[in-house]
Amino acid sequence: MSVRRLAPDDVQPSSFSFDPANKDRVEQWIAKYPEGRQASAVIAALWIGQEQEGWVSKPMIEHVAGLLHMPFIRVLEVATFYTMFNLAPVGEFLVQVCTTTPCMLRGSDEVVAACKKHIHPRPHTVSSDGKLSWMEVECLGACVNAPMLQIGKDFYEDLDGPKTEALIEALRRGEVPQPGPQNGRHTSEPLGGATTLLDRRAIIRVSGAGHDGGQATEENAKVMVEGSPTHGAAGPTSPGTTR
Ligand code: FES
Repeated sequence: MSVRRLAPDDVQPSSFSFDPANKDRVEQWIAKYPEGRQASAVIAALWIGQEQEGWVSKPMIEHVAGLLHMPFIRVLEVATFYTMFNLAPVGEFLVQVCTTTPCMLRGSDEVVAACKKHIHPRPHTVSSDGKLSWMEVECLGACVNAPMLQIGKDFYEDLDGPKTEALIEALRRGEVPQPGPQNGRHTSEPLGGATTLLDRRAIIRVSGAGHDGGQATEENAKVMVEGSPTHGAAGPTSPGTTR
């Protein structure tokens, strides 16, 4: 368990306030709870604050405490308990590298080495150009495409050292690399394409059974496939959000 403390005073801003759009979002969260239970919105308020600033500062915690009529210490407890709250400034792009066992076995050491070389030797430290920082995180739920990392809401998967370096440099140039597998495969299919569920008639038989007593026709298959809510999806923008 890591020790989580607020950033030193010399990096804390002098004040914090939500911008108008985020103030509206926080008020919507507060309104979801009954009178006297506004403290229930504390995680949402801190999260919105982090989305605005990139990290959770002491003035932000004080502001949220005042807004929700909570003692400062109770908001501090929440901010320091949940590791998804950043307690120090982060780069414009925060690179979260999974180093849990499946990713470690598949080469996350190379990914970490690329971050050390191209961002900063130490985690939680903003690069000299202010563009990037990196940190290690526990399993992000994409082990099947290990090793992987998360930037914002996007997952970048099937990485190695050179692919991670290329990704970092692309971000530096202001590009937005396509999220998902970086080795050319589609989602978590084998490289070169699917190797199972290739018998179209078998799919027809199973799909048709629940609708018309098992009439297995090509027309049924067309209806089932094209009528599917997922048919035609070009692939997730952020694979992690669809698993
Ligand atoms: S171990 Fe890395 S995503 Fe699960």
